[in-house]
Amino acid sequence: MLGVETSCDETGVAVYDSHAGLLGHALHSQVALHQAYGGVVPELASRDHIARVLPLLDATLEQAGLGLHELDAVAYTRGPGLAGALLVGAGVAASLAMAVGKPLLGVHHLEGHLLSPLLSEPELDFPFVALLVSGGHTMLLQARALGDYLLLGETVDDAAGEAFDKSAKLLGLGYPGGPELARLAERGDPRGFDLPRPKLHSGDLDFSFAGLKTAVLTRVRQLGPEPGEQARADLAASTQEAITDVLAAKAAAALERSGMRTLVVAGGVGANLRLREKLDAACARIGARVHYPALQWCTDNGPMIAYAACRRLQAGLARARHDYAFDIQPRWDLAEL
Ligand code: KG4
Ligand code: ZN
Repeated sequence: MLGVETSCDETGVAVYDSHAGLLGHALHSQVALHQAYGGVVPELASRDHIARVLPLLDATLEQAGLGLHELDAVAYTRGPGLAGALLVGAGVAASLAMAVGKPLLGVHHLEGHLLSPLLSEPELDFPFVALLVSGGHTMLLQARALGDYLLLGETVDDAAGEAFDKSAKLLGLGYPGGPELARLAERGDPRGFDLPRPKLHSGDLDFSFAGLKTAVLTRVRQLGPEPGEQARADLAASTQEAITDVLAAKAAAALERSGMRTLVVAGGVGANLRLREKLDAACARIGARVHYPALQWCTDNGPMIAYAACRRLQAGLARARHDYAFDIQPRWDLAEL
């Protein structure tokens, strides 16, 4: 299964074999391209995907030791994501599938994230609770079976990754802010600033991070134009502490409420080590097991798309297209799957 991921700012290509596992993969991150703008510029993202995708495909096939004609199917990220960026992957995947006469499959990006821990732990099985935390999404799901995902709660405003990114920007850090804020936080005191934990005691499994961002803005203003290095580190640590406190508490509540004993974490924010510490502790407390994707499969990548397509095809759930009409769905609810 060839997988092509172009939904946002990473071009990812991979070949996954249902028996032998991952045979090859290649990735290009556009971080440097968008850095000057402090966020992803959709038009630049699309153009860069066009420039990168074929060389990445060549590298992937070479690594896998495969020719195009040896592929059995071609998958791409159908959505959600940036329309122009998605169209690049969809167009390339449809052309390749048509050229070799093999089926074409459109994959839900979040299902790719959701299944990414299984790339390293294939024996991991449904049902489980999933905490999906990326730049665009923050949700808790009850994953009952492949393709059967019940939404337990989600953010009512900013995503957790957005909270990291926006707070990092306020602290004068680069894009994407999550990893940079986490790095600065290592030298800071997580109790240095008293920040809100929005919705911590709301009784539901929803999240809200917009108020936290405003609180960070207020503290930045109070610190003035030249805050000391220690104050910045303390604010970064306090921000990370507030975000991860809420994520860990709600994930634990979701496990208790659903009666499930397995938690799967996915998405870019899943790379955050403080979050992992807290989830480990919370799960140990309630006797649950927690699984994370390998760090390299937390952020967007080709293998998670090839893998999700493989699982769907095997389960008879894939709607393969043989007319090679490539369609995308920039807005696409996971519960619709
Ligand atoms: O899943 P992802 O690569 O892309 C989306 O589909 O959104 O997630 C990217 C998000 C960004 O907001 C980034 O700042 C955040 O994940 N992120 C982190 C860390 N690494 C990536 N946030 C906190 N700590 C990290 N170590
Ligand atoms: Zn993603």
